[in-house]
Amino acid sequence: MIKIYAPASIGNVSVGFDLLGVAIKPINGTLLGDCIQIKKSDNFKINIIGKFANQLPKKINQNIVWKAWKIFLKTTQKKKNVHITLEKNMPIGSGLGSSACSIVSSLHAMNVIFNNPLNDEQLLKIMGVLEGEISGSIHYDNVAPSYLGGMQLIINEMNIISQKIPIFEHWFWVVAWPGTKVSTEKARFILPKTYKKKTCIQHSKFLASFIHATYSMQEKLALYLLKDHIAEPYRKKLLPGFSNAKKNIIKIGALSCGISGSGPTLFAICKKLNIAEKVSKWLNNNYLQNKNGFVHICHLDTKGSRII
Ligand code: HSE
Repeated sequence: MIKIYAPASIGNVSVGFDLLGVAIKPINGTLLGDCIQIKKSDNFKINIIGKFANQLPKKINQNIVWKAWKIFLKTTQKKKNVHITLEKNMPIGSGLGSSACSIVSSLHAMNVIFNNPLNDEQLLKIMGVLEGEISGSIHYDNVAPSYLGGMQLIINEMNIISQKIPIFEHWFWVVAWPGTKVSTEKARFILPKTYKKKTCIQHSKFLASFIHATYSMQEKLALYLLKDHIAEPYRKKLLPGFSNAKKNIIKIGALSCGISGSGPTLFAICKKLNIAEKVSKWLNNNYLQNKNGFVHICHLDTKGSRII
């Protein structure tokens, strides 16, 4: 029996729509991600447990683990069976890469139990395909950081899906999930089909300069450049209270704030723990919409998906 944990992630990180993502871990040791237990068996069986198990479709052929199993068998040409238990700890449609956590932990576990027939690039490729089935278009900015850890820049050219880039490891990433749901598919649909040349140039300038700032360790510049020209201007209307929260937590001392993935989770970056705690308190009191919501102060998860 093997147990794999795949961490939550923040897609886009404001400046890199579909191209940048970070894996995160709460500093208090809470596991913020999904787990898969797997063992070889004579027949195939899936169990789903965990706080958010009841949010998943009941039909087996709509189940993400089942889809992962099918694509794994097809890619490896194997004819085997397994017993799999998915521990669904992540809320669906939260913007924290919930589907990526299930996809990554499932495929990683299947690969390990059969002695790693697929390499990282092959695994990432099919992780992206599955993510695309769920959200309506392939994007790797959740699966890549959840699988590989750290901050990932998506390349997806010349057989390279993603590369780890250096990032300021002392940053605190405060994430606040209000307890509500936004469908990634819908949040992608509301984006413009085309953008003006001026917006494209701004976007390229900010993303390229941000990557430069991380490599040259210019922290102030990197924080300044964390701005979203592509999604936030259109998606913020889907998130009640987002603009007000952003204004207030920046006033408290957060150095950057954006939408995590397609929302409704908001993320904020702080350099000092006492500021992160104040931001977390404000968000707890003002951004959450029901008792399911949560706020976590996180660090970068540099390991990604792993055996626990
Ligand atoms: N890059 C994706 C989006 C992430 O923003 O639509 C979704 O979690």
